[in-house]
Amino acid sequence: SYRVGIVGATGAVGQEMLNVLGNRNFPVKELRLFASARSAGKKIKFKGKDIVVEELTKEFYKGLDIALFSAGGNISKEFAPIAAQNGVVVIDNSSAFRMDDNVPLVVPEVNPEDIKKHKGIIANPNCSTIQMCVALWPIHKEFGIKRLLVSTYQAASGAGAKGMQELLDQTKAFVEGKEIPIDKFVHQLLFNVIPHIDEFTDNGFTKEELKMINETRKIFHDNEIKISATTVRVPVLRAHSESINLELEKKSTSKEIRELLRESEGVKVIDNPKNNEYPMPIDAAGTYATYVGRIRDDEVFENGISLWVVADQILKGAALNAVQIAELL
Ligand code: HSE
Repeated sequence: SYRVGIVGATGAVGQEMLNVLGNRNFPVKELRLFASARSAGKKIKFKGKDIVVEELTKEFYKGLDIALFSAGGNISKEFAPIAAQNGVVVIDNSSAFRMDDNVPLVVPEVNPEDIKKHKGIIANPNCSTIQMCVALWPIHKEFGIKRLLVSTYQAASGAGAKGMQELLDQTKAFVEGKEIPIDKFVHQLLFNVIPHIDEFTDNGFTKEELKMINETRKIFHDNEIKISATTVRVPVLRAHSESINLELEKKSTSKEIRELLRESEGVKVIDNPKNNEYPMPIDAAGTYATYVGRIRDDEVFENGISLWVVADQILKGAALNAVQIAELL
């Protein structure tokens, strides 16, 4: 069993990392929790015992085997290499190292073998990318995806616990007839959708959109696949949804794709439109699977297939995927 540290333990993802380690009975010999000086001293329960949160210092890695980072790119850049150089395996949830050649970017259902190439740091992909890869990998293996268009419907939780709180605060302010507070998101999210996640780049795409494009290519080991993404924030609390259109190399039918996905690891198919049954974020919240529905033959592309994918962004999109990586070690 392992001595595990969680860096960013008091954040939304850090908290779920504790829950997932406990629920999946990860072999933890010792668990240590790290956060900023502001959160140090807080007590958090793990398997019935209180653990006191420690301030993150340059010495934090001593006595650890595995460090799960979920504290933002700047913290990862500063502290993860120190741990890795001292023999700790770092699983990093930020975007700091994802595209580095010597850092595996891993979705356990897709490319578990990449873990072997690590030099101390393994990157956890972007949340929207993880769920798309889980849903599309079986299709890519079997039929070859040539082109992929994706539009996302991303929950407030993607911006952390403060993002969720802002949506709740906006709702409360509306009910009470008060001024709507806007801080974490650039516009009011309540009764709105915001086609802007992360910063804009020079080519008009946002960083979130480029992550979906570049990370998917790295995870699939396929630079030929053509991808375009539009990422959108919606007033949902904690599961991301995605509308996806595919052009496949080989002819297939929606029936075949549905059957294939029913047998695929990590995927649950909910696709019964006659009974109004399809995946929705309100049902996916708090669960581990990647849900796929609305699977259709689509004439817009040659060998076209369209589908709809939903998963809990904090769990499969972050904490669960990180713990699954740790389980592969
Ligand atoms: N950047 C994502 C979001 C979080 O804001 O929804 C997961 O990478």
